[in-house]
Amino acid sequence: MLWSMQQQKQHASNEEEEFAGHKSGISSARTSNLKRLSNSSSCSGLSTCLEDMTGTASEPIKKPSSFHKLLALNAPEWKKAIVGSGCAVVFGAVYPVYAFVLGSMISAFFIRDHQEMKSKIRTYDLIFFSLCVVSFTVNLVQHYNFAAMGELVTKRIRESMLTKLLTFEVGWFDKEENSSGAICSKLANEANVVKSLVADRISLTIQTCTAVLLAIALGLWVAWRLAVVMIAIQPLTILCFYTRKVLLKNMSKKSGEAQNQASQIAAEAVANHRTITAFCSNDRILSLFRATQAKNRKDGIRQSWLAGFGIGSAQSLTFLTWGLDYWYGGKLVHEGLITSADVFKTFFILLSTGRIIAEAGSMTSDLAKGSAALKSVFEILYRVTKINPDDPPGTKPVRIQGNIEFNNVAFAYPSRPDVVVLKDFSLKVKAGSSIALVGPSGSGKSTIVALVERFYDPLKGKIMIDGTDVKKFNLRCLRERIALVGQEPVLFGGSIRDNILFGRPNATEAEIMEAARAANAHDFISNLKDGYETYCGERGVQLSGGQKQRIAIARAIIKNPAILLLDEATSALDGESEKVVQEALDRVMVGRTSVMVAHRLSTIWSAECIAVIEDGVIVEQGGHQDLMSRGGAFFNLVKLQQQQ
Ligand SMILES: Nc1ncnc2c1ncn2[C@@H]1O[C@H](COP(=O)(O)OP(=O)(O)OP(=O)(O)O)[C@@H](O)[C@H]1O
Ligand SMILES: [Mg+2]
Repeated sequence: MLWSMQQQKQHASNEEEEFAGHKSGISSARTSNLKRLSNSSSCSGLSTCLEDMTGTASEPIKKPSSFHKLLALNAPEWKKAIVGSGCAVVFGAVYPVYAFVLGSMISAFFIRDHQEMKSKIRTYDLIFFSLCVVSFTVNLVQHYNFAAMGELVTKRIRESMLTKLLTFEVGWFDKEENSSGAICSKLANEANVVKSLVADRISLTIQTCTAVLLAIALGLWVAWRLAVVMIAIQPLTILCFYTRKVLLKNMSKKSGEAQNQASQIAAEAVANHRTITAFCSNDRILSLFRATQAKNRKDGIRQSWLAGFGIGSAQSLTFLTWGLDYWYGGKLVHEGLITSADVFKTFFILLSTGRIIAEAGSMTSDLAKGSAALKSVFEILYRVTKINPDDPPGTKPVRIQGNIEFNNVAFAYPSRPDVVVLKDFSLKVKAGSSIALVGPSGSGKSTIVALVERFYDPLKGKIMIDGTDVKKFNLRCLRERIALVGQEPVLFGGSIRDNILFGRPNATEAEIMEAARAANAHDFISNLKDGYETYCGERGVQLSGGQKQRIAIARAIIKNPAILLLDEATSALDGESEKVVQEALDRVMVGRTSVMVAHRLSTIWSAECIAVIEDGVIVEQGGHQDLMSRGGAFFNLVKLQQQQ
């Protein structure tokens, strides 16, 4: 009874966890905690922990088995694991002891001497009472320890996964299977499934093993002939469940993939709800969502049929065993080899093993789900990033002058390897000078900016900063000296202050305001009701495009970088604001190497050099006047814009 209640509780808690996981999968995709992200110190402990587990990222790692990896993940909670396992062993022993006493109790009612009957029943009653106290206590301690362990593991898995994810090269995120929705669903659901694998499954396995071993030992001790027959039938029950487990393992993988797809669609729909509303695409998104859900449902139904067949077969086999046991027990009593009391004891004791194995067997689908989740978690935790931002042997420059050089660079995005974006591309930018990249859309301007940040590695050629290949630098150090204002300014769901501080977490109040002034953002921020404490909204939705861009510029300025990368940094501003911000940028650009990409050619007058890019190659390069007088590609671009 106790056992069944525990099983039911575990099933119910799994369902709750899964439900909560799905809910939080979407909500966690929406909330970002800027402070946590910017607080790199909190991650360092974890990354050390991960490095301990994975070895240094650049070394090829020996792949340990999933079980060893799971143990390594739980290592810090070894005390809780030992206490919990000890209690699970005791609780596992409770059931065979209870069965033994129950058998003895029944036989006590057949004693003719009333006094002896009374004293035996009193003794067995006392044992029952002790079992009650022991069960209560060990259950309490066991559940507390395993639950606490599970919670800590979930927390650690989520943090480790996010820490690891943030070290992955940008190209990994470009892949379809690694979209933000899929990753959020992994972070939310799979850590939970692993938790249940640790907390519930480990305790259940220990309990089952103890109970089965003890029951077999007791059964053989009481009446070995009957016990041998009863034990001989158990493999049939186990085989039935084993087959079911293998079938379900394959199916749970498929249903997991389908669920990820559904969560991904939902997360993207919520994140991009404005675009969906504007294009009236609600029905299309819903039908996509329904189609993936339908696949989930079909898989679920098939799974239930199989589960029913497996459980049904196991149950029938158990009843068959009972019939055989009574028949053979009666035969042995008839032959005078054992007493009727022995039949009851052995029957009750070994009856429990069949049930325990059967019930543990019915959890195989959860186990299959758990191991699929575990595999997916470890795929992230043990992946070696192609571009490691913490490369320890990398050069850590104290100062960077800012000379940038592209030497015969060829590049294609890893997600689209057949489209060559840059072909034999060479470019030199002197330290402290500014260059403007212009050219038609899709010509490769943003790609050049991304390569300076080493978001990707080139297929051929070298990108050098101050004469050193960017691959030789410790990336985190290098990136600290480069600031990027992207084409689509990204703000986080924190206050304006938090967002500016993202550039330099230890900046003072005065420095924040100075950076905001330089970006022409101070006035509009001061006019907001909450000033610098104004909440930007998720991805900055509560601000206009121009406001977002000015905050992004302030965030770059506060970093005091040696290299400033401005990818259409003023494209969302109106003419007047653009002029003011451009003036501010011109001031900030003095003494720094600046690479600016601009569509509106009016903003690049101040650049010392202009490079016109077409189809991934420089078709023209020179000063403004020089290019205008040549009457070539740049001249045509300017003329075209003037006409517009
Ligand atoms: N993450 C990516 N994965 C695959 N291909 C990409 C990716 N980003 C850009 N591209 C492709 O690379 C080419 C160059 O893109 P890039 O963004 O560098 O152009 P751009 O000159 O900045 O254009 P725009 O002026 O419109 O911003 C385009 O054909 C684009 O489709
Ligand atoms: Mg671009």
